Amino acid sequence: MLQRPRRNRKSEVIRQMVQETVLQPANLIFPLFIVDGNAQKTEVNSMPGIFRHSIDHLLREVESCVKLGLKAFDLFPNIEESLKDKYATESYRENSLYLRAIKEVKQNFPEVCVVTDVAMDPYSSDGHDGIVENGEILNDETLEVLGKMALAHAHAGADIIAPSDMMDGRVGYIRQVLDDNKFTNVSIMSYAAKYASAFYGPFRDALKSAPKHGDKKSYQMNPANQREALIEARLDEAEGADFLMVKPALPYLDVIKLLHENSELPIAAYNVSGEYAMIKSAVKNGWLDEQRATMEVLLGIRRAGATSILTYHAKEVLEKGWL
Ligand code: PBG
Repeated sequence: MLQRPRRNRKSEVIRQMVQETVLQPANLIFPLFIVDGNAQKTEVNSMPGIFRHSIDHLLREVESCVKLGLKAFDLFPNIEESLKDKYATESYRENSLYLRAIKEVKQNFPEVCVVTDVAMDPYSSDGHDGIVENGEILNDETLEVLGKMALAHAHAGADIIAPSDMMDGRVGYIRQVLDDNKFTNVSIMSYAAKYASAFYGPFRDALKSAPKHGDKKSYQMNPANQREALIEARLDEAEGADFLMVKPALPYLDVIKLLHENSELPIAAYNVSGEYAMIKSAVKNGWLDEQRATMEVLLGIRRAGATSILTYHAKEVLEKGWL
């Protein structure tokens, strides 16, 4: 036998020597949930180990992550029902919970990277990512709201704006608004290929942001489609995106690879709430080895071509010394 692939697996040193993919703390972005009030830290039922933090706790959480070498965060707000309306006006109201959170994090930890989520759903009384009129999601009218939201985030100190709404033309629209207001240095991480997925369930519990009626299939993509992701990616790139994101990650590794091969932009992947819940529930039952399963998932997403991984596992992998 001329070729014996097992020779390259014969010792730990050689296995590491030929390892193709590596995961570093810098590849991880940690999503954090924020809630109003003081001294609040409540665990999300379907996401063991993940909490909704009031701003004081959020700052402590960021501090402990920074000590572990985790320096990029994506913030998501849990908004009281009474503050929600049809036009998501709370999303850009001065002094809102979310804007205060961005400011506080950047003031206390100027070196961290704050990614902000631009979408109407946490603030919308309809629970949709766009303005709803007679059961239809209005695209161009929604862009105006997204523009105001993105600008408010930039004023508050956001490093990267991440529109997760899937309206057509929103990357170009937001880029224009930011540039017109001299925020040329604020980046856009576009959710380019975001699928209408069952795996967002626990996240919607965390934020109480589920649609009140209908589903999101008229704007989020059909899980059966791969080629359509290229259309979305090309448009977002042409409109000025700095990163392209694929979401969820695990059922869409082919899409991550496709975008990686067809764009020079860095690719981000969102290892979403339902993917996290699957691992946690299996581990709780003693059905999976937590460290090995988690690291295999994250490495798999990297191997497919993602540079950045948004994942609820980010803190624990560093805390437990798995990296
Ligand atoms: C909504 C948004 C969702 C997630 C991030 N932004 C849910 C949705 O589209 O309904 C899901 C993230 C997760 O499941 O971890 N703009």
